[in-house]
Amino acid sequence: MERIFSGIQPSGIPTLGNYLGAIRNWVRLQDDHDCLWCVVDLHAITAWQDPSALLEQSLEMAAVLLACGVDPMRHILFLQSSVRAHVQLAWIFNCVARLGWLNRMTQFKDKAGKDRENASCGLYVYPNLMAADIHAYHATRVPVGDDQRQHLELANDIAQKFNHDYGVEFFPTVQPLILGPAARVMSLRDGTKKMSKSDASDQSRINLNDDPEAIALKIRRAKTDPLPLPSEIDELAQRPETRNLVGIYAAMTDRDVGAVLKEHGGRGFGPFKAALTELIVEHLSPIASETRRFLNDRVALIDLLKKGADRAAAISDPIVSEAERLVGFVRVR
Ligand code: TRP
Repeated sequence: MERIFSGIQPSGIPTLGNYLGAIRNWVRLQDDHDCLWCVVDLHAITAWQDPSALLEQSLEMAAVLLACGVDPMRHILFLQSSVRAHVQLAWIFNCVARLGWLNRMTQFKDKAGKDRENASCGLYVYPNLMAADIHAYHATRVPVGDDQRQHLELANDIAQKFNHDYGVEFFPTVQPLILGPAARVMSLRDGTKKMSKSDASDQSRINLNDDPEAIALKIRRAKTDPLPLPSEIDELAQRPETRNLVGIYAAMTDRDVGAVLKEHGGRGFGPFKAALTELIVEHLSPIASETRRFLNDRVALIDLLKKGADRAAAISDPIVSEAERLVGFVRVR
């Protein structure tokens, strides 16, 4: 079976967009892959994180993943900072990757913005750490959103240069599993912007821990237009907010947009929004209550994450040791 690695930042309760776009796909990939799911707290501190918030959010993200169906027995769930191999391999990769390569990374430019001089060095070498995450396990498949494609190309460039420089075939090529269009859940206030945890308006997103009343209110207030729902997919092109709601409905029922329009086309938004609310509530309520259950027993949660870290380290330690030997470090242990 192919080995999958993917990471998610502990940046607060995920949105419905994160769920449909990433987490739900992770859960499905578990059927026919060996998976490592990592809460990437080392990546998180490339931008300032309040320590107690980081701690809470890391546990929260682990709990959410478990609540969504990540299976910590058949697969591995762990926190990045709890497995040393990531940092050890990242240092080697800092010395393999070229400045020119990192200078081309569009995400650094976006995140550093105008105040580039004040960005952390960690933000700059973020992609090298991400490459280390994957290669420390010889993972070959990486489910990510489209925005991470360039980072995976860099991971392949690093593997290739390492293999070339040290005359080995050690790190395999990784294949991105770019997650499908169901992934593109947009803001409820503006159908042209992605639904985001960082949007100023909480009304723009559904959080995985929203209660039924909050969900109902947000969907009721979600921006639409005065026309009824269209019957043809083409007609969605000019109506981003409508397309978004129909897209969410389709993703949540595992149907295509055409099928949803067949059922709801020609009707007004009132009944459609009511049906959508019901769907979302039905889906998210068990996730919210399971998340709470995992968070309420911290000792058990931390124990589960320790077991995950031990199992992750058992895979990555020998791989990173071998990389260190190839580089020419004296192995004294
Ligand atoms: N950079 C990824 C993101 O922001 C998170 C991540 C870190 C990751 N390490 C990874 C994803 C390794 C896939 C594989 O979405």
